[in-house]
Amino acid sequence: MATEVLTTADGQAKTALSKQHAAAWFASRKGEAPEIEVGTATPPMSPARPEQPELLSPRDVPKRRPGTEAGRIALLHAVAHIELNAVDLHWDIIARFGHVPMPIGFYDDWVKCAEEESRHFEMVCECLKQIGSFYGALPAHAGMWRAAEDTADDLMGRLAVVPMVLEARGLDVTPGMIDIFRKAKAEDAIAALEIIYAEEVGHVAYGSKWFHFLCGRENADPKDVFHQLVRHYFHGVLKPPFNEEKRAEAGLPPDFYWPLTEDLPAPGAASK
Ligand SMILES: [Fe+2]
Ligand SMILES: [Fe+2]
Repeated sequence: MATEVLTTADGQAKTALSKQHAAAWFASRKGEAPEIEVGTATPPMSPARPEQPELLSPRDVPKRRPGTEAGRIALLHAVAHIELNAVDLHWDIIARFGHVPMPIGFYDDWVKCAEEESRHFEMVCECLKQIGSFYGALPAHAGMWRAAEDTADDLMGRLAVVPMVLEARGLDVTPGMIDIFRKAKAEDAIAALEIIYAEEVGHVAYGSKWFHFLCGRENADPKDVFHQLVRHYFHGVLKPPFNEEKRAEAGLPPDFYWPLTEDLPAPGAASK
């Protein structure tokens, strides 16, 4: 089921299938439908994507000022792109790591996230439509899948980088985005972003929960392992300001992320 979502290119078709499979999973878990067993699968290295938007290197994606309608369209378009990518990321963790024995709750959590991201994508597409645009109208960032590729062989690395770094970053930036739409009195966009903001806390929390679970199983110190994995797999340093309150709510304490705001001294550099 996860692989089927990943190999569906069209955004609306992908999210429709994602919601359908999520509903089937939860019906099965409640005993209302035949049991679905966790199997193994060979997901594609990269998910299928629609022909539009054109994917460009981040430095080639045109910047638009957020105070203008064109700027707000570009912002919503970027959010839609992130949400569609997130749908694939959550199904990918399910398909990619089927060989790692995990409690059934692990699958419940990521299916729930995938279902939420599918709604996020659809809500943002609806907002785009209301201001005369659509997903695919503008170029979007290539390279969003890089974190998934880099951590394709490492479940703990995947949890550290995707929910605990990238999705946590969403908690930092979303309030500022909501302000932009509040100034424009764009009620639909405000409502959509507020739902996204509330639900994303849960995604970070699931990441933190299962990361800690795996550290516990390996008798490893979560903070040290987190620092090692992020430094190994994530390109660049983390950028403050952080939403410390929402990060704490999601189970990410400051001593996890603050040390990652600084580059490590180069190997062999003199230390005092
Ligand atoms: Fe989302
Ligand atoms: Fe998310």
